Amino acid sequence: MKQRFYITTPIYYVNDVPHIGHAYTTIAADTLARYNRLKGREVFFLTGTDEHGQKVEKAAQGKGRTPKQHADIMVENFISLWKKLNISNDAFIRTTDSRHVAIVQEVLQTLYDKGEIEKRSYSGWYCTPDERFWTEKDLIDGNCPDCKRPVERIQEENYFFLMSKYQSWLIAYIEENQSYILPETRRNEVLGFLKNNALGDLCISRPKSRLAWGIPLPFDENFVTYVWFDALLNYYSATEYLASRPSSLNWWPADHHLVGKDILTTHAVYWSTMLKALGWETPKNIFAHGWWTVDGKKMSKSFGNVIDPGRMVEKYGVDAFRYFLLREVPFGLDGDFSETALINRINTDLANDLGNLLSRFLTMAEKYFGGEIECTEENIIDTAFAGECIKALHPATDDANWSNLRFNIILESVWNVVRMANNYIAQTEPWKLAKDNKVQLVQVMANIWNALRLTAVTLYPFMPDTAEKMGRQLGMIKTATEGLPGEKGIAWQYSGIRVQKGDQLFPRIETNESIKAHSDVPLQPQEQKSENANLVSIEDVAKVQLKIGRVLSAERVPKSSKLIKLLVDTGEERQVVAGIGKSYAPEELNGKSIVIVTNLKPAKLMGVESQGMLLAATDSNGVLSILIPEKDVKEGAIIK
Ligand code: ME8
Repeated sequence: MKQRFYITTPIYYVNDVPHIGHAYTTIAADTLARYNRLKGREVFFLTGTDEHGQKVEKAAQGKGRTPKQHADIMVENFISLWKKLNISNDAFIRTTDSRHVAIVQEVLQTLYDKGEIEKRSYSGWYCTPDERFWTEKDLIDGNCPDCKRPVERIQEENYFFLMSKYQSWLIAYIEENQSYILPETRRNEVLGFLKNNALGDLCISRPKSRLAWGIPLPFDENFVTYVWFDALLNYYSATEYLASRPSSLNWWPADHHLVGKDILTTHAVYWSTMLKALGWETPKNIFAHGWWTVDGKKMSKSFGNVIDPGRMVEKYGVDAFRYFLLREVPFGLDGDFSETALINRINTDLANDLGNLLSRFLTMAEKYFGGEIECTEENIIDTAFAGECIKALHPATDDANWSNLRFNIILESVWNVVRMANNYIAQTEPWKLAKDNKVQLVQVMANIWNALRLTAVTLYPFMPDTAEKMGRQLGMIKTATEGLPGEKGIAWQYSGIRVQKGDQLFPRIETNESIKAHSDVPLQPQEQKSENANLVSIEDVAKVQLKIGRVLSAERVPKSSKLIKLLVDTGEERQVVAGIGKSYAPEELNGKSIVIVTNLKPAKLMGVESQGMLLAATDSNGVLSILIPEKDVKEGAIIK
């Protein structure tokens, strides 16, 4: 029977757009999922969105939407980002799915019937943004100890999950199961917390009068479920209705829950005890990764330094971004993100080491052999170099490194092979052999090919596009998806290889000192221009025709999270496509007066014709606002 592998990411709140933290966990999970598929395992890789609770309700209110409308709009940001980042999730769960809701209610009823849930009167300090109660002694200067914002005194009846009785079980369980919580430092933190504090019971309801947006308790219609109780159950409910289900395969328990360090307690304590109370197995591992700061500062909207992963992909390419996140910092530790560091990695590791190796090899293959290379078994296997490559790659083929999520060590081992191959070229000097020793030249070239082949296959889980590109250029018959070094199924070919030089894998990025994170300064060197060089004349301004338009209708462009198609009256009807779909819902735009460039050459955006351009402003926090006239002027009014 095939081994199975089940991995999850947290389900992300739909109150806001995705940031680098969301991308980080999801890329890590994707890499593990791809590795396990290469190993021939049956994989279930789950991600999704957390759509109930106060945060989402508030965000929706702020936008004048119902929570569900808001969730339906915001979920698209995650779905489209995962496509951009080449995420191979097998399922996407939304906690508003009716099947999930039903399973949460079944679980609540079961626990209630078992006497694990009890109604009590409760008074405590409540932190609205964090959606949790604190005791008096938890508070710091009267504020929430977590987010430092003011708390409110709340007295109400609520339902409690009797979590406290599982405290000693949980301590013993974590102590006995070394790899239940990783990394070890986090495991020790959780144990320290559990040993030094009395665990309370968990308030798992919210009165509907205070929060309406949640799953109703099946045994009391005046309450909805606490968002974390609902959210954690996604890991189980998805196995019931989203996973493929050969009869022999049980998806529960998960092999890994990947989470950020801030949500480790909810997973290690709430989720573990919930499962214990249900009599279900715990996951095999909960891994808490570190946090990214940005240019040395905490990432936050107020600093205007929130990293948009989609933008990074547009600027630097998906594989460079994926590589950077998993290579730069050991998974588990905090790290600092900067575009300068990303560019350094691209220029050194990707362009210089890897890209150059491939292009040097392909150039020589073309030059000396017209692209046809004899890679016979004797040519490759009998050299010390081939053996050294396999040895250097041991960390990448060692399952223990993967199950401990040591991505940076795995990648380092691949780069050892890349460097070894570059040195091998320097030592063997194929350009000299081409003149006087063709037999040895064939062997040397076959060995370089082999090192590149091993590199491509091992890199596949991290950089799938790059691996596929390398595979094509190297003339590998099977794709890189069919096995790992040292295993059968590997793309290994022993005779006439036809290599094919393609585009450079990673063009070098030329930088100058002026590149700042988030700047939209093009990354090519800029001519030095005087300040005045950017000024335009009044005649130039007059060339642009701006008019007031009234929106007659608006709808999303299919398959695009960003584009909205507007029918606008600017004195005549015209269709305008605008990239505002992440900040506005179509229904918000109907009837609005907006500013349109009316003499722009028509262009097609995702196949839809646009006859003009809508003006909008974006600030450094990424807030986007369309421009509207201050007074009610008639459509068609000329702006000058
Ligand atoms: O917490 N660096 O959702 P969320 C790295 N819905 N990771 C970061 C980060 C940073 N600067 N900032 C945030 C939730 N994160 C719940 C989860 S699971 C049953 C429910 C990570 O949208 C953070 O650690 O707030 C967490 O893993 C995720 O992004 C935030 O998710």
